Amino acid sequence: MKKILVLNGPNLNLLGVREKSIYGDQDFLSYFEELKKRFTTIQLEYFQSNSEGILIDKIHEVGFEYDGIVMNAGAYTHTSIAIGDAIAAVRTPVIEVHISNVHQREEFRHHSFLAKNCQGVICGFGLDSYRLGIEALLV
Ligand code: DQA
Repeated sequence: MKKILVLNGPNLNLLGVREKSIYGDQDFLSYFEELKKRFTTIQLEYFQSNSEGILIDKIHEVGFEYDGIVMNAGAYTHTSIAIGDAIAAVRTPVIEVHISNVHQREEFRHHSFLAKNCQGVICGFGLDSYRLGIEALLV
């Protein structure tokens, strides 16, 4: 059975509460339950941290064993050379996802330090970006 980790970065624990006009009103844990019901033939796991180092530790932990990581690194996407390097260091392919279309937003959200080392990037489809990320790993 394929193993895929959905990995969320800072402030994504507040989905459903935070800036609903941008990120919607569903909390991530209830969305993750929907994902698990949809993808019954894979082992889906979820991890969230607000700390850069903990996210890097998690990438190292699963990055030689899992079949894929769907990662929304939140604002670290635009700041973290270290997370970009962690993605480059492991074998597991990573799909970068964003709920919002970061290219329609502030200039500082247009650049990603992760994208170059990811298999691909999906953004702008709301929470459905995560489903599309998983689909991409299953192709
Ligand atoms: C985000 C976009 C980032 O720019 C922002 O910092 C987030 C969420 C998204 O999912 O749209 O925290 O990654």
